[in-house]
Amino acid sequence: MDGEAVVRRLEEARREGASRDELLRLAVHEIEAEEDHYDWVGIYLLDGPTLVLHDYVGKPTDHDRIPVGRGVCGTAVAEGRDLNIPDVHAIDNYLACSAETRSELVVLLREDEDAPVHGQIDMDSDRPSAFAARDEEEIRRVARWLAGLFGDGSRASS
Ligand code: SME
Repeated sequence: MDGEAVVRRLEEARREGASRDELLRLAVHEIEAEEDHYDWVGIYLLDGPTLVLHDYVGKPTDHDRIPVGRGVCGTAVAEGRDLNIPDVHAIDNYLACSAETRSELVVLLREDEDAPVHGQIDMDSDRPSAFAARDEEEIRRVARWLAGLFGDGSRASS
C-alpha cells in the first residue's frame, strides 16, 4: 500500500476540479485497488453521534449507520484512536459486516492526533492479522489528506 501514490492521484483529481464527495469516493476505490488483502474498504462520516457510511467497495453491509461507541468503528471514535483488530472474532463489541471477515483496520479522518475527527476509513480483510503497521501508516497518510478537505479552520488544507 503506497499512501503517497494514492494522495498524488487524489491531488491530481482535486486540481481537475473534483468535489470533496468525489474525492472521498475516489479514495475508497484507490485504496481498495492497492492490495489483494483489502476485501472491504469504506468511509464513514461523523454526523453528530452517528457514523454514516459514505461510500464503500466490497460486499453490501447492513451497518450503514453506527452510533459512536458501538462496534469497532464506533469504539475508535469514542476512544479517539485508530484500531487494528487482528482477529475480529476475539472481541465482543464487533458488528459483523460479512461472515468471511477475519481482521479489521479503522483509521480516523483527522489532520493530527489533536485535530477534530470527521469520520474514518474502515477496512476489512478475509485474512487474519491482515493489517501490518505499514498498512496503518500508509492509510493514515491518506486519512490526514482527506481530513484536510473538511477545513475546520484551524489548519490550512494541504
Ligand atoms: N465491523 C464494523 C462494522 C462495519 S462493517 O465491517 C462494514 C464494526 O464492528 O464497527
